[in-house]
Amino acid sequence: MQKIVVQGGLPLRGEVRISGAKNAVLPILCAGLLADAELVVRNVPNLHDVKTTLRLLAELGCGITLDDSFTIRIDPTRVRNHDHVAPYELVKTMRASVLVLGPLLAKFGAAEVSLPGGCAIGSRPVDQHIKGMQALGADVVVEHGFIKARAKRLKGARVVFDMVSVGATENVLMAAILAEGRTVLENAAKEPEIVDLAECLVAMGARIEGAGSDRIVVEGVERLGGGEHAVVADRIEAGTFLVAAAMTGGAITATHARPDTMGVVLDKLREAGAALECGEDRIQLEMRGRPRAVNITTAPHPAFPTDMQAQFMAMDCIADGVGVINETIFENRFMHVQELLRLGADIRVEGHTAIVRGVESLSGAPVMATDLRASASLVLAGLVASGETTIDRIYHLDRGYENIEAKLSGLGARIRRID
Ligand code: UD1
Repeated sequence: MQKIVVQGGLPLRGEVRISGAKNAVLPILCAGLLADAELVVRNVPNLHDVKTTLRLLAELGCGITLDDSFTIRIDPTRVRNHDHVAPYELVKTMRASVLVLGPLLAKFGAAEVSLPGGCAIGSRPVDQHIKGMQALGADVVVEHGFIKARAKRLKGARVVFDMVSVGATENVLMAAILAEGRTVLENAAKEPEIVDLAECLVAMGARIEGAGSDRIVVEGVERLGGGEHAVVADRIEAGTFLVAAAMTGGAITATHARPDTMGVVLDKLREAGAALECGEDRIQLEMRGRPRAVNITTAPHPAFPTDMQAQFMAMDCIADGVGVINETIFENRFMHVQELLRLGADIRVEGHTAIVRGVESLSGAPVMATDLRASASLVLAGLVASGETTIDRIYHLDRGYENIEAKLSGLGARIRRID
């Protein structure tokens, strides 16, 4: 199994190019199923989760062409009219596979998608996805570990989500595109990735208003043509590099970024003492001295993203002062704490709250990655720890970060991958 080895102690300097967003590209690729013609997706990040999604789409019968490493063409015209099964083997490795449910149901009138089950960071049910499909008139049963959904043609409806869910909003939004009449999604998620998905769907001929607000209105259309779309920049990847630079007392520029999608994360970096300058698609950060501890509470967008919680905890570990971190989205998203303690951090967890007392320095040690963003926090901690930090199980990192060690090396970090 591959590992990453980091020698800490060097400030990051230079430019880093931000890739397309993992959480935007996955639903967008699934949206390709809805069309009657080819969808061309640009700015695709080279990630393990993208490969899994492409395998799933190929399994369902889509033609997949890679123009170059950033451009993918999805041809749904060859999808067979039976056999709309997303198998357990693929869904269990990537929860986002459930996002084929809405497109398959809307386009082909049937879908069988394996239940994603639990994952390391929490139980993550899909009740809101199912509730939305039912509201649009689908018959849904859950049996033998599969969500089995059927409908002749979906009918527009008012769907009020019980809680804010990114995935459920995306899935029901995609289903509503080909439904008859108007659908109103209330208490919808407002993440930039939903806006990006909506822009892609509109480019394909969908009629959507309000994406990015908590009320999205869809006027159903008979069919969707193909289209072309460039994926929005990854705000979590950008945030991760900026935190890395702040922790190491460095100065970097993130290019091809979208600072307008990163409000509260940039505010918290400023609060920690970083000097930031933003252009339309670039962010410059400079940090002098030790960061100040910051408090964070994760919540749906536009509040602080749960996907940046672990990285900010790593920063608080070496900050001046005490940082209080509340995780309100996932019940089990503090698994990085045990590993950060191995590096000499001072963290106390009480329920959903972690109290992080900044220490002067961390010391390198072998640690284990447990989930995607937890892995990133361990890399960041390794960048400031004295000596060598070896991070095991880094396949988690490859699910969501394109070439993280190459990008960090480009900024001057001493980091390498070993077998
Ligand atoms: C997406 C992101 C993930 C991010 C998360 C929260 C993708 C591919 N992944 O995941 O990186 O951490 O948003 O910003 O975009 N829930 C239910 N019932 C449901 C659906 C969700 O109870 O039917 C709960 C979940 O257990 C969780 C909360 O709602 O506690 C938020 O989950 P959700 O927004 O759905 O996350 P994902 O879409 O899975």
